[in-house]
Amino acid sequence: MNKVACLVLALFAVAYAVPSTYDTENVWVAGNLSYVIPDNAVLGGFDPYGFNTYVGRVKYINDILPARVVAETGTAYFNTQTISSKVLNYDILVADRNVKYVWVRSFDGFYEKGIVAVGTTVKNERVFCCRAKTDGGVLIGTLILSDKVCIIKHETLALRKFDKYEVLVAQPINGTIYY
Ligand SMILES: *[C@@H]1O[C@H](CO)[C@@H](O)[C@H](O)[C@H]1NC(C)=O
Repeated sequence: MNKVACLVLALFAVAYAVPSTYDTENVWVAGNLSYVIPDNAVLGGFDPYGFNTYVGRVKYINDILPARVVAETGTAYFNTQTISSKVLNYDILVADRNVKYVWVRSFDGFYEKGIVAVGTTVKNERVFCCRAKTDGGVLIGTLILSDKVCIIKHETLALRKFDKYEVLVAQPINGTIYY
């Protein structure tokens, strides 16, 4: 093998082994039960018990994943493609003054402009916030575009895959300011 091929392979290996990274395009603040949920936290839906859930994120093993944060209990529920779990420390998405967050209908892993990533997986894929109506709630789930489905699993409920879902999108606020 020549040197160039070796270098290309080595670079590829490095690129593939990059640690997961947190999204920095949006503003995320650390949270647990000791912190009051900020006024500008972004609502994502409600869980099967009727609790509102805020858009959050957690690190699970090596991946950054979207989470359903229940303020009353300081619990962040999340799922991978296979399991569901919960943790008591998380980040919460907040809307800073130049951006508003809206849920828009989407499908099949289509890339929507302004779609909100929470971070990346250890395989360097971006992970986005999706949601769907299921199991008596509106549940925030995990979207990796190449999977083409929004994956949701809440506690012991069945794993759900949706090819039609909503994605969270950041939109600049460009209205006129009156004094
Ligand atoms: C929340 O985090 C802060 C800062 O790390 C810590 O001091 C506090 O004990 C935590 N509270 C809970 C309920 O985990």
